[in-house]
Amino acid sequence: MDVMLELEKRRQTAREGGGQRRIEAQHGKGKLTARERVELLLDEGSFEEFDMFVAHRCIDFGMEAERPAGDGVVTGWGTINGRMVYVFSQDFTVFGGSLSETHAKKICKIMDMAIQNGAPVIGINDSGGARIQEGVASLAGYAEVFQRNIMASGVVPQISLIMGPCAGGAVYSPAMTDFIFMVKDSSYMFVTGPDVVKTVTNEVVSAEDLGGASTHTKKSSVADGAYENDIEMLAEARRLFDFLPLNNRQKAPVRPFFDDPARLESSLDTLIPDNPNQPYDMKELIHKVADEGDFFEIQRDYAANIITGFVRLEGQTVGVVANQPMVLAGCLDIDASRKAARFVRFCDAFEIPILTLVDVPGFLPGVAQELGGVIKHGAKLLFAYGEATVPKVTVITRKAYGGAYDVMASKHLRGDFNYAWPTAEIAVMGAKGAVEILYRSELGDKDKIAARVKDYETRFANPFVAAEKGFIDEVIHPQSTRKRVARAFASLRGKKQSNPWKKHDNIPL
Ligand code: HXC
Repeated sequence: MDVMLELEKRRQTAREGGGQRRIEAQHGKGKLTARERVELLLDEGSFEEFDMFVAHRCIDFGMEAERPAGDGVVTGWGTINGRMVYVFSQDFTVFGGSLSETHAKKICKIMDMAIQNGAPVIGINDSGGARIQEGVASLAGYAEVFQRNIMASGVVPQISLIMGPCAGGAVYSPAMTDFIFMVKDSSYMFVTGPDVVKTVTNEVVSAEDLGGASTHTKKSSVADGAYENDIEMLAEARRLFDFLPLNNRQKAPVRPFFDDPARLESSLDTLIPDNPNQPYDMKELIHKVADEGDFFEIQRDYAANIITGFVRLEGQTVGVVANQPMVLAGCLDIDASRKAARFVRFCDAFEIPILTLVDVPGFLPGVAQELGGVIKHGAKLLFAYGEATVPKVTVITRKAYGGAYDVMASKHLRGDFNYAWPTAEIAVMGAKGAVEILYRSELGDKDKIAARVKDYETRFANPFVAAEKGFIDEVIHPQSTRKRVARAFASLRGKKQSNPWKKHDNIPL
């Protein structure tokens, strides 16, 4: 009996982490503890812990006197809505969640199991970085984690939840995972913090401005979503998890749905304004196509001229990429291309079909774009669509001009179903621009030019020229979009397509 008591006593001590005083300090900052987070993330009672009694081996700086069980990270596995996931959760109450050699070994152990057994990894990051007392052993530990992030990439989904400080090279582990969420006002990511920045460059900046949730979701695009508090983020992480497959050999789960796949939406017939230069909200179309209107958006606050995220059709996950006419008229630019390319590649790696909704007047012109390398960055999206072998269904609602027409999952990039609404305009450019080039000598004569524009519009500003060539498979009624798209994806469930053998490709990075 004594041994049982001993076990319970040891467990109790381990669960207390850095002790009540530090737990209260953690709560005082509006943060949950490592264990509370795991409890909220996983299904009730599903968590199975590993390595609860692991302690560090450091004997420098008097560390041998303090060897708390668990060494600052809680690791193990459990389920989210019944599906398996590996988790690590750094415990800020133990040496500030800093990463020691043994702390890293615990993380590596569950990552190895995740890769071997084909289940995602969710990492909860709340750490002062490298365990300063351990020096290079800690750096080695980080690199071991990095290597596993790289090996797991494209094999199992990896999600990083940043729920406290995350600084120094430590940010590179989350950076190599598929999705990063941050909590507003209590999480930070930077390679060098405000103090170092001040010393080196003399720039004065707050931690929030340098690496807070707003900075990373709106400006740097390092993070994919920002949430009000720990609880909201953990709930949203569960929601995202439900859209994803467990690994690259399985399909995403099929959820029960209570929405007629053949549902007609007559309001879509009037979504496109009469004036071709007037914007409309592409999100309305996404919501009306999706099962129960449910849309999980990725990178909502960055490059809003393109929309990326997940919906379900007939209960199956579909990745959506859509131009947003409300922002920059839906033009593709550097930021939008990078954002969408990464999303397309995630979907392709994990066998998630892609729905592309097109209303794009072209690539954004400008010196800043050209000097910023729009050629290379735009090519990312082109490349990503062209290499993707998952089912690809495209709907052109209005403009599909120039190179951007080609890029946005056109027939020529192995689009499986390429639909257009009757309002579609598929052409090299808009009528006005085209006429100004073709009839430069007549520019002085307003009436003549107006007639030329009209003529160009009737001949080219429609979907039928492309449909005559078979580049558009069918011109569909907007109200029937959900039905047509759902049927298209249903017909593609057995799709098998492969690319020529290669070690890996050389996407323009
Ligand atoms: C050991 C650490 C620690 C660390 C914090 N602690 N960071 N112990 N190694 N890196 C300990 C503190 O001593 C303290 O212990 C407890 O954690 C809480 O820290 P506080 O400073 O009281 O908390 P707070 O005021 O909230 O500040 C949090 C913090 C700050 C911003 C993270 O602690 C900090 O700046 N820490 C150092 C960060 C750093 O320079 N890390 C190394 C970066 S280089 P007690 O006993 O008092 O509770 C790096 C390289 C990685 O990470 C390279 C990978 C390739």
